Amino acid sequence: MDKKKVNISISIKDIKLSSCIMNASGAICTTEKELNDLLKSSSGAIVTKSCTFFPRKGNVKPRYFYCEYGSINSMGLPNLGIDFYLDFLEKNKTEKPIFLSISGLSIEENCFLLKKASLSSKVTAVELNLSCPNILGEEEIIGYDFYKLSYFLKEIFKFYKKPLGLKLPPYFKEIHIKNVAIILNQFPIYFVTCINSIPNGIFVNSTTESVVIYPKKGFGGIGGLSIKPFALANIRLFHLYLRKEISIIGCGGITNGVDIFEHILCGASAVQVGTQFIEEGISIFDRLKKELISILEKKNYSSIDNFKGNLKDLV
Ligand SMILES: Cc1cc2nc3c(=O)[nH]c(=O)nc-3n(C[C@H](O)[C@H](O)[C@H](O)COP(=O)(O)O)c2cc1C
Repeated sequence: MDKKKVNISISIKDIKLSSCIMNASGAICTTEKELNDLLKSSSGAIVTKSCTFFPRKGNVKPRYFYCEYGSINSMGLPNLGIDFYLDFLEKNKTEKPIFLSISGLSIEENCFLLKKASLSSKVTAVELNLSCPNILGEEEIIGYDFYKLSYFLKEIFKFYKKPLGLKLPPYFKEIHIKNVAIILNQFPIYFVTCINSIPNGIFVNSTTESVVIYPKKGFGGIGGLSIKPFALANIRLFHLYLRKEISIIGCGGITNGVDIFEHILCGASAVQVGTQFIEEGISIFDRLKKELISILEKKNYSSIDNFKGNLKDLV
């Protein structure tokens, strides 16, 4: 039998991605060189490092650590400031969709950043990071405060008319995801990206009997291999509860083509890769693309839509 021609392009409303695979915010996407490398790569889109109004140096190093079961980080949002990212985009002619990640330290700062971003024709969409500690001071994650989340989105959509995606924290109960979806379904959101790092983990070095990163006495956000089941569960439930017009970008624990296939089966339209991209470098996008295409060929699927969200229960 002839093999079907496999196509891994996708659309998020009117945004077209030639490949469903892209980097996650914070993974090698901060400097001009890093962004240029991403532009030249086979990723389907680029997500920038989450930016603030002023450039930030971030936390004291060591602030990132990797081992075989994943990564821990407490970066403290080191970034070059929104003007750097908007200038970079202005200088570059590219067909590739650009998602500008923003992560203001207050609701007011986020509104200001969104207004600035909406003036640029080069920003395809903003990915608003609602899952970063420090956003409201006192280590609060806005995605965990449903009242503030609802208020914040009402404020934003009074003036923001361009494509908007939300980077969500991981949720651990179905009722929380249902309630967040009820809020999000009221707004013209393009996509959600789930999940951000799982907050408040600790890695221990048993040889030195110490933590492995310096900030916050070793506590940090967990990414990589060990968070995949939580990412899949969040995608699965958001796929169930969100309006179908809101796309899901899966993120968490992707290291190979099978992981991507699983994210899409749970309901993701596209995926982002963080920890594994940091560890492997820019060639990862060619490898993942090849692996995903090979899986689809073996299963005789010709597009992402053939199996998106079709995860089966055991009967
Ligand atoms: C070093 C590092 C920096 C990160 N910085 C950001 C960031 O600036 N904004 C953001 O939304 N997520 C950030 N993240 C979270 C990732 O985008 C991603 O959600 C998380 O790492 C899970 O994906 P992974 O399992 O592929 O690593 C960062 C993650 C790491 C490891």
